[in-house]
Amino acid sequence: MKINRKRWITLFLLTACLTALLSGCKAGQKTVVGAAGESLVAGKGKENAAETTAPEANATVAPSSGEKVKAIALTFDDGPDTGDTKATNDILDALEKNGVKATFFVVGQAAAEWFPTSGAKAMKRAVSLGCEIGTHTYSHENLNKASDEVIAEEVEKGCKVIEDITGQKVKLMRPPYGNANENVLSKIDLPMIQWDVDTLDWDTKDADKTVENIMNSVKPGSIVLMHDIYGQTAEAVDQVIPKLLDEGYQLVTVSELFELYGKDLEGHQQYYSAR
Ligand code: NI
Repeated sequence: MKINRKRWITLFLLTACLTALLSGCKAGQKTVVGAAGESLVAGKGKENAAETTAPEANATVAPSSGEKVKAIALTFDDGPDTGDTKATNDILDALEKNGVKATFFVVGQAAAEWFPTSGAKAMKRAVSLGCEIGTHTYSHENLNKASDEVIAEEVEKGCKVIEDITGQKVKLMRPPYGNANENVLSKIDLPMIQWDVDTLDWDTKDADKTVENIMNSVKPGSIVLMHDIYGQTAEAVDQVIPKLLDEGYQLVTVSELFELYGKDLEGHQQYYSAR
């Protein structure tokens, strides 16, 4: 019985050792695979990290599906106005307070002649807040009625004022009165940014109505038209930004909006929304 027991114990121990050895080999193999797998994952992780670094560094990179994006662009024409209404600076205050951006279509003359110091300061502040500045021509000409020479001069001078102040190349234009006929479009190699939400702020000069008009008509991809020359518009902006944020909208610049929706902006073309 003792011998048998010893044999059993020996056999058991041998089997146990053999099993341990085999499983050790398997474990070893697993470790190797695991290590290789891990290194692959780590590699992919690095690639992903590189891919995701871009959106973090620049919140404008489009996700894979444009349908999931809920963003709009607030746009302001005819400024800078740093006079009695303080509209441009009050709007910048509201944007800064809420950490959002907008696009300003500047009248060159306002920046260069009417508010040469405070206007330039406001424009630089806008750029420092991540806002975009496009041209609204030099002297707010109705380009549909202008000669080709005047069209060229209005755009060139309008852009130069902005570029001299901000040091940034102008990439967008909003034609005064939204007027850009075939001839105007053929002459100007900038994307013409129109709008799909007209707040009528210039007409009502009523903050509540401006807010109402925005909230009733805004959709993902919208471009909202306002004017940074009215105190009531600045009031409306202060009220409407939290409402839009509550509805889940991102408030971005026009260029960012089109990037988010995966759409290119091209010269000689008009755009009414990013949808
Ligand atoms: Ni205008």
